Parts: sequence; structure tokens; C-alpha cells
Amino acid sequence: MSKRLGFAALSAGMALTLAACGGEGAGGSGGAGGEGAAAEDLTIGVSMPTQTSERWIADGNNVKEQLEAEGYTVDLQYANDDIPTQSQQIDQMITEGADILVVAAIDGTALSGQLENAASNNIPVVSYDRLIRDSENVDFYVTFDNFAVGQAQGNALLQGLGLRNEDGSPGTATGPFNIELFAGSLDDNNAFFFFNGAMDVLQPLIDDGTLVVKSGQTSIEQAAILRWQQETAQRRMEDLLTSAYNDGSRVDGVLSPYDGLSRGIITALQNAGYGPTLDAANPMAVVTGQDAEIASVKLINDGVQSSTIFKDTRLLAEQAVAAASAFAEGNEPEANDTETYDNGVKVVPSYLLPVETVFADDIQSVLIDSGYWTADEVASGQSD
Ligand code: GAL
Repeated sequence: MSKRLGFAALSAGMALTLAACGGEGAGGSGGAGGEGAAAEDLTIGVSMPTQTSERWIADGNNVKEQLEAEGYTVDLQYANDDIPTQSQQIDQMITEGADILVVAAIDGTALSGQLENAASNNIPVVSYDRLIRDSENVDFYVTFDNFAVGQAQGNALLQGLGLRNEDGSPGTATGPFNIELFAGSLDDNNAFFFFNGAMDVLQPLIDDGTLVVKSGQTSIEQAAILRWQQETAQRRMEDLLTSAYNDGSRVDGVLSPYDGLSRGIITALQNAGYGPTLDAANPMAVVTGQDAEIASVKLINDGVQSSTIFKDTRLLAEQAVAAASAFAEGNEPEANDTETYDNGVKVVPSYLLPVETVFADDIQSVLIDSGYWTADEVASGQSD
């Protein structure tokens, strides 16, 4: 078992709380005091939500590799999108002597107990991409600018429909267009940022009649897809087509916040006779996305899915490693946002990364030239 970190590695608030309690916490063995601990002596627990999406596999691998390159021992676990499994895995990481935790939550509200356990063992917690809510014991948050992701998705929908050009100027189309709205899992804080960001762009055009949500389902609760499941999105799209488009009308665009959902939505549309491509006689609806998952990048390349939002998970991993290293050295990680992410108990200092919109024309420059995917992977739709 590796050494626990000393007070110097903790956030000021946490250290004060513990000092006021008159002890170092259950696991405190003195650690490395003010100098921090050597990477070689530290174990970092990395808890990821699921392996059903390639993005989380890439996240886990990137974080592990980069931490190991710095000399840390890494305990990486995936929780199968099952909340009790994730809770148990984190408890076990703590029991087995983790010094720092990096956690991408399945349900952002379900980990308070684990985080209390971490705090009483002097273990700093870095919330990874998804904010852990309702807990004082989240020390840092690394993510992308999630409101900007939503805005980019709204803009990509308008661009795909021809209502706007890339630079935001008016496009050649005037509408009105029928659209439908999808949102992520309501237990994921990000889902609200994505939806609100997108509605920030779309609502004015809904209000002036350029965009028509024919189903009338415009609230996030109506649009949400539990656990971001592709099959659930496909079923909802099928239901929408049956209930709102059985009069010969067509859906022109679909706001989708994540590539997995986009693929379910596209399947439903194709089964109903749309496409297969955006330039078919009965064209595929303009469907947005997020994560640049390889199966969706192929669909974009093939002219089926309109766009995705690229979030470079290699850079996110770098920020997670930087945050963990700062804690290990007894410092505070560097935040670039200390206002936006209120988890219900406190505003969590955050590092936000920028995002990029990808249409077919951007695949080469954004995804292939950067080494994120190879041309072969894009052509096959599978990662090597
Ligand atoms: C969100 C994340 C998105 C997407 C989604 C589904 O929390 O920010 O990028 O991956 O989960 O996995």
C-alpha cells in the first residue's frame, strides 16, 4: 500500500476542515508533508463509467498511460454503467490505498458517500468530464466548455439546414424546418449544459417560427435519454416519427447531443425511408453529434450524419494528469474557470478545454492530421 498524501496535498478548505477535526483522517500516515510525495510512491485510482462507448475507453487508456509515464501506479476500473458497481470500485480503490482519485461519474449525484470516505482518508478527488454533484469533497474538475458544446451543436444544426454559414452569417435557406430535440442523461450534469447551450442558439428561431418542433417536446425532461443509450434514442425517434410525422410531413433536423444517440436516431430515420444520405432523393435529416466516435466519423464521411463535436480526450487526460500531479506535489491545480460549475454545495474550480465542430470537410484537418483517427479508421468506421 502506498503512502497517503499529507495535508499539503489537500485543498485549503479540506485541510482546514480536517485540522478543525483535530486529525489527519483515517488513512493519514503523514505522507510527504509540504514537499509532496514522489510519483513512484503514489497510486491513482481512475474510475470510468463504461466500456460501451469508445470515448471512455480512450479516456481511460489516455489517463492511465500519461499517469504511468509520470511514474504513478494506476488502478483503472470501468463500471459498466452500473451505479453500485462504480460505488464499490471507488470504495475498493480507497481501501487498497489510492492516494488520489480521478472519477468520471455514471450518476453525478450518487457518489457523496464515496467522496466522504475519500475526504476522511485525505484523498483529493478530481472530477473527470462529468461534475460530481452534491458533495463538498470534489477538489477539482477537468472538462470541456460544455455550454459551448451545446452552442456548437445548435449552430451545427443551423449550418446543416442551410440557415447559417460557418461564420454565423445568414445561409441560403429560410425554412421553416421541422426539428426534434434530444438531450442526454438527466443524472449527468453535462446534459443540462449541452441542452441549454443548444437552446440558447435555437430558441430564438423556434420563437420566430423558422424552426418548428412538431412533436411539441421541447423540455429537457421530454428530450432526455437515460444513460445516453443508443437503443433508447432509436425508440424515441421511432415514436416521434409515428406520433408527429404520420401526416406525410418530414423531420428536417435533429439536435443530438452525442454520437451514440445520433446513430440510434439515424437508424430510426433510415428504417422510416430517410436517406440513406443527406443528398438522397428523400434526404436523411440533419443530425448533430458529439465525441467524434469512429463509427459516427465514418457516417459523416459517408454523407449520412451531418456533424459532430470533437473533444480531444488526449488533452483532457493531460489536464487530469496535471491536476493529479499538482495534488501529489502539495499544490493546487491551475483552474481557468472558478465560476461556472456549482455542484449544489460549492463552485468547483475547473479547467475547461475548447471544442471543435466537425463536418465532412473537416475530418482530414481536424481528426486525421491531428492523429486522432487514421484515414483507414475513418474509412472502416472501426478503431485499430
Ligand atoms: C457526457 C460527455 C459526452 C458524452 C456523453 C455520453 O458526459 O460529456 O462527451 O461522452 O457523456 O458518454
